[in-house]
Amino acid sequence: MMAHQTAERYDAMKEYIAVAQISEVPPGRMKWVALDGQRVVLANVDGTVYALKDMCGHQRVPLSRGRLEGHIVECPKHFARFDVRNGKYLGGPPSADVPVFDVRVIGETVFVRAPDTD
Ligand code: FES
Repeated sequence: MMAHQTAERYDAMKEYIAVAQISEVPPGRMKWVALDGQRVVLANVDGTVYALKDMCGHQRVPLSRGRLEGHIVECPKHFARFDVRNGKYLGGPPSADVPVFDVRVIGETVFVRAPDTD
C-alpha cells in the first residue's frame, strides 16, 4: 500500500521541474526562471508562490522587471496589470491574459509544471 502511494506521488510529480529554492523568491518578490526554453516568473504573495509566463500580454515585455504589489504585477513598460494568481488581465493597455503554471513547493524547492504536459 505504501509503495503504491509513493508511486502515485512520483507520477504526479514527474511533470514538475525544480526551478528555484524558496529562499530565492521571498514574500513580495519575483524571480524569473527558464522552463523548457521559456521565461517563467515566480511571484511570492504572502508565502504562496505563483508562476506565470514572463511576458506581458500587450507587447511581450518581461513582467519580472515590473512591480509586484500584493497579488498584482504591473508591467514596467505601459503599466498593464495582471493577477499573478490566475494571469487575468486587470487593466491598462489592451492585453490578453497571461498563461499560468502549477506550482508546488516541497521542502525548500520550488517546482513548476512543464507547460506542454497537459
Ligand atoms: S508592454 Fe506591458 S503594458 Fe505595454
